[in-house]
Amino acid sequence: MTQDELKEQVAAYALRYIPQNAVLGVGSGSTVVKFIEAIYKQGIEVKCAVSSSNKTTQLLQDIGIKVISPNESGCFDVYIDGADEVNDNFEMIKGGGACLTREKILASMAKQFVCIVDQSKLVTTLGKFPLPVEVIPMAREIVRSKLNALGGQAILRENCLTDNGCEILDVHNLHIDNAKELEATINQIPGVVTVGLFAQRGADIVLYATPQGVQIKQKM
Ligand code: A5P
Repeated sequence: MTQDELKEQVAAYALRYIPQNAVLGVGSGSTVVKFIEAIYKQGIEVKCAVSSSNKTTQLLQDIGIKVISPNESGCFDVYIDGADEVNDNFEMIKGGGACLTREKILASMAKQFVCIVDQSKLVTTLGKFPLPVEVIPMAREIVRSKLNALGGQAILRENCLTDNGCEILDVHNLHIDNAKELEATINQIPGVVTVGLFAQRGADIVLYATPQGVQIKQKM
């Protein structure tokens, strides 16, 4: 099976986590695009949604789903999103699609975070995927030097402005042993908007697609 087919499989499986008659939180990325397609194809009813990116908002509206602001929704039951890496502690690297800040806001508001990935995203140690950090443009160089001092190589993502008008530094070659600690450390750097480590608030359920079917890991 191709990676695309695996993404389709897990996206379709995630439909059963959509709450009835309640707000749904929707992430971003290619797996989420397949999830939105699956909602449409299966004719699943979604009362309304909160969205983590302008692209997701557009896709949801295109299939007739009302998108409301998180200021209006308040906390909600379920957030469904992909990830770039997930470890055994349900900690993730996210932000490959540059939507990490809004994703982290929605994750913090959801009672349950359902992470949908193909099996290639499962890792024992986070950090092979370059860690995205969203930065205020005027602070880019000072943030870059502080990230480099932590042992990584921070590289500006070319031609990329986030939905919040900020830039992304991708930090290469980090070996992340303590994700919660690193998340807190990077969050403290003035000029950082969000680091793409989702450790303090990780996933509650990881659905991962394998050629043998979708497997479920659930926090005890
Ligand atoms: C978007 O900014 C990301 O956090 C995505 O959730 C992540 O990059 C996974 O994307 P894919 O589903 O495209 O692999």
